[in-house]
Amino acid sequence: MKVYATYNIKGGVGKTTAAVNLAYLSAADGYRTLLWDLDPQGAASFLFRVKPLVKGGGKALIRGTKALDDAIKGTDFQNLDLLPADFTYRNMDLLLGGADKKPTRKLAQLLRPLAVEYDNVLLDCPPSISLVSENVMHAADVLLVPLIPTTLSVRTLDQLTEFVAGFRGRQPQIRAFFSMVDRRKRLHQEITEKLLAERSCVAATAIPALSLIERMSVERAPVAAFAPRSVAARAFRSLWAELS
Ligand SMILES: Nc1ncnc2c1ncn2[C@@H]1O[C@H](COP(=O)(O)OP(=O)(O)OP(=O)(O)O)[C@@H](O)[C@H]1O
Ligand SMILES: [Mg+2]
Repeated sequence: MKVYATYNIKGGVGKTTAAVNLAYLSAADGYRTLLWDLDPQGAASFLFRVKPLVKGGGKALIRGTKALDDAIKGTDFQNLDLLPADFTYRNMDLLLGGADKKPTRKLAQLLRPLAVEYDNVLLDCPPSISLVSENVMHAADVLLVPLIPTTLSVRTLDQLTEFVAGFRGRQPQIRAFFSMVDRRKRLHQEITEKLLAERSCVAATAIPALSLIERMSVERAPVAAFAPRSVAARAFRSLWAELS
């Protein structure tokens, strides 16, 4: 089982959009895939038309595997299951903090038994750096970091790399990719080219800013599903091929 997590301390950079499309593509490739929506806003659950509700809330999930199994829902797509968000996830930090002696490893521990059922797990993380995101970093094999091309995005990436390098034991691999790239903006072009040349963790595939991608919230489906031949779908397929 391979665990991917979309993560960025910043909000609105395309984490959920990527998690939803990559999970869909993983399932379409025949991998038994689970997407865990860890954001109390429940955007990924909304996009897959799954009600954001977990019986007993985050508290029940943290207590054990049975609750986790019960909370998993099917989606409209073969091989793809979803663990929906729950509004109680807003207290996840407190819940994890009270978990046990290793509050940063709890999520990894919860995911372990799922290896029998799933080939790929995608975690859609809320923005910010918190106990939840630290748990995600310890649970993930690969951190997928969407970057909007600004000069600050370089800093964000370097800070994250440094933070993860400080982990004892297993460290997730960091794979960044550019998100919402506007080819007409010279600065976007300059920054993407520069960072691609300087940082080996940056994927060659960039996700362009496209109104079809925004339409996902209207269609309530991955763009790769409702417009499979579009430029947007091709970009996500190429990204998945590169990252998987
Ligand atoms: N490549 C893109 N082109 C155009 N719009 C995009 C693109 N990627 C994402 N969006 C839009 O930008 C908004 C934010 O995207 P998304 O929800 O994926 O970001 P996020 O990082 O998960 O945000 P949050 O931090 O709030 O969880 C959404 O309305 C989405 O439709
Ligand atoms: Mg999101």
